Amino acid sequence: MHRSIRLFKEFQIEPLPRIPRRLAFRTAISKPLLTVKILRTIAAARRFRSQASGRMVLVPTMGALHAGHASLIRRARSLAGKDGAVVVSIFVNPAQFGPKEDLSRYPRPFAEDKKLCASLGADAIFHPPAGEMYRADFSTWVNEESVSGGLCGASRPGHFRGVTTVVLKLFTIVQPDAAVFGLKDFQQCAVIARMVRDLDLPVRLVFAPTVREDDGLALSSRNAYLTPEERAEAPTLRAALLAARAAFSKGEHSAAKLTRIVRGKISAGARVDYIEAVDSATLKPARVTKRGDTIALAAFFGRTRLIDNIQL
Ligand code: PAF
Repeated sequence: MHRSIRLFKEFQIEPLPRIPRRLAFRTAISKPLLTVKILRTIAAARRFRSQASGRMVLVPTMGALHAGHASLIRRARSLAGKDGAVVVSIFVNPAQFGPKEDLSRYPRPFAEDKKLCASLGADAIFHPPAGEMYRADFSTWVNEESVSGGLCGASRPGHFRGVTTVVLKLFTIVQPDAAVFGLKDFQQCAVIARMVRDLDLPVRLVFAPTVREDDGLALSSRNAYLTPEERAEAPTLRAALLAARAAFSKGEHSAAKLTRIVRGKISAGARVDYIEAVDSATLKPARVTKRGDTIALAAFFGRTRLIDNIQL
């Protein structure tokens, strides 16, 4: 059954029914293909918007779509209804990658992505080249200055400036009534929620739960980089977070002790970037945790940085 919970005060997070990941993905790509329009320019996206009727729902992605994205697109389809339109944006946004990050090796399997979008009933894919989004003399940025500061924001300077800028651009180009994001990127959801609130953007945000492998590993396009050994160790992230939540349920509310539990359960081969317990709306660090707070973490398995989180 669906259960609605409120994480960020103003925005509804709507859990999806749990679909076994492999089944969900296979069902999606084996369905007969419907047509999906490819919009490569801002003008084409605007034209599509002006011709669409009903509710427009956007799923912003960087491509390399997996079953986690498939769940977002399904959610978008049900929000749009049969009269509305679903647009999936596929744009590997250079502005959110640091100089030493994986922009050039980020996977770009567009033909596969297109098939998946079509099979899930998306109406259009907005897939612009980088030059269409960022002119050579581009110089205007959106900076959220509170919730983007800690966690991933602290270890990836400039990352959220790139995210908020591109998401605002996507909102003004596609002009959706609603947009669907995945809660695996918990801080990203909080930053976008703050931007939408502060700039009075007329977009309803829907945050959908993380889809996981059977062993608990959160689906991510970056999982493809893991060696078999790293892949075998990566599920310890989820196990560690579950252990902390179990301790919280038994009465352990000290953030330091809970994060120590998490650290102790992550495989020794990983290099932990951060583990923090925070208030889910403000992302301020908690000293004593309360129900609804989030423990978020990032850790490197080899060169691959994975993130995950759990709500207490
Ligand atoms: O979550 C992502 O894939 C990206 O950060 C987003 C929201 C598409 C912006 O580039």
